[in-house]
Amino acid sequence: MREFKIAVVAGDGIGPEVTESAVTILQRVADKCEFSLKFTDYKAGGCSIDEFGVPLTQEAIDGCKASDAVLLGAVGGPKWDSVDSSLRPERALLGLRASLGLYSNLRPALMFPQLAGASPVKGLTEMDILIVRELTGGIYFGKHGRSVQEDLLSDGNRKGVTAFDTEEYSEGEIRRILEQGFRYAMGRRKKLTVVDKANVLETSRLWREIANEMAPSYPEVELDFLYVDNCSMQLINRPSSFDVIVTSNMFGDILSDEAGMITGSIGMLPSASLGKPGTPGMYEPVHGSAPDIAGTGKANPIAAILSASMLLRWSLGMQQASDMIENAVRSALSDGFRTADISGIDKNAAIREVSTSKMTAAIAERI
Ligand code: IPM
Ligand code: MG
Repeated sequence: MREFKIAVVAGDGIGPEVTESAVTILQRVADKCEFSLKFTDYKAGGCSIDEFGVPLTQEAIDGCKASDAVLLGAVGGPKWDSVDSSLRPERALLGLRASLGLYSNLRPALMFPQLAGASPVKGLTEMDILIVRELTGGIYFGKHGRSVQEDLLSDGNRKGVTAFDTEEYSEGEIRRILEQGFRYAMGRRKKLTVVDKANVLETSRLWREIANEMAPSYPEVELDFLYVDNCSMQLINRPSSFDVIVTSNMFGDILSDEAGMITGSIGMLPSASLGKPGTPGMYEPVHGSAPDIAGTGKANPIAAILSASMLLRWSLGMQQASDMIENAVRSALSDGFRTADISGIDKNAAIREVSTSKMTAAIAERI
C-alpha cells in the first residue's frame, strides 16, 4: 500500500478545529482508496511562541521538508499582537513559504451554486477565478529597514526616522510564476490576466515584457494586462469574465481577499502553495484564525477540507480521491448542511445549521 507523510501544522484559533476536520476527511478517503497517510503534528505561530519562544522552530521546518505535503490551519491572534515584529505568528507563515521554496500560491475564488446569492455583488451567480500569486519574492521579502536621516517634515527636528520596504523581482522569479499562470490557463478557460502597476513600477514593466515574450509559446491563451487599481474595480464590475489572474506577492495578497469576498463565502476557500516539482506543497484555508469563534464549534471546516482535496491532487497525484472530497462537499451543501457563516444565505426550509463536527461528519458520510 502506498504511504504518504503529511505534516500537520494546525496553528492557532480555529486552526486546530478545521485541521482536525481535514485530517478526518483525508483519513476517510485514504481508507476508501486504499492508501495510507502518516500524520505528524508540528507547532507554528502563536502556539509555538508560547511553547518555544519563537513562531517557527527548525524542527518544524525540517519536519515539513521531510513530508510529502503540509496541511496548515491558521496562525495568529490578538494574544500575540504586541510581540516584537520579528517574533509575530505571521513570521511562521513567511518562514515556511521561504524555507520550502513555495513560490506559487494558488487561490481559487469559486462560487458554489448552492450558495449563489451570498455574494455582496448584486445578482452574481457565477464566478470561477484562479489567482496565482507569487509567494516568495517582491516587497514581502525585499530589504526592509529604518534609518535616521534628514527629514524636514518631522516634528521640529531636522533628522527623522525613515522606514523602507523594497520591491525587487528577478527575471527568473517572474518567468517561473508567469509560466504557472500560462499553464493553469491552458487547463482552464485559456484566459490569463497579468495584474500589475506598470504605469508606475519598474518591476511591473519587467513582468509585462516577460509575459509578452512568453505569450507566443502559448498561442491558445488570450493574454491581457490590468493595472491593479483597475483590476480591483473590474473584479466587482465583471467577476465572471476572469479566468486566471497572475500577479506579484503583494497585489495577490490584496486581490485574493477581494475575490474571496465576492464569492460570498470566505469560509469555503482553500489554497495551495507550491514549489519545485517533487518538493512538499503546503495547503491551507484562505481564512484566518478567527479567534472570536475559536472553540465554539461555529467554524466552517470546508475551506480546510477543500485544501485537503487540493493536497491530494497537487502533491500526492490522487485525482480521484481529490474529486471524491469535492463531490462530498457539494453533496452535503445540496442536502442543506450549513455552518453558521453560510446558514443565512438561502431561506430554504431544508437548510440545517450545524456545527463544525456535524458538517465534517456529513461530508465524511458522503465519501
Ligand atoms: C495571506 C496572509 C499573509 C500574507 C499574512 C498573514 C502574512 O494575509 O496568506 O494572505 O500577507 O501573505
Ligand atoms: Mg492575505
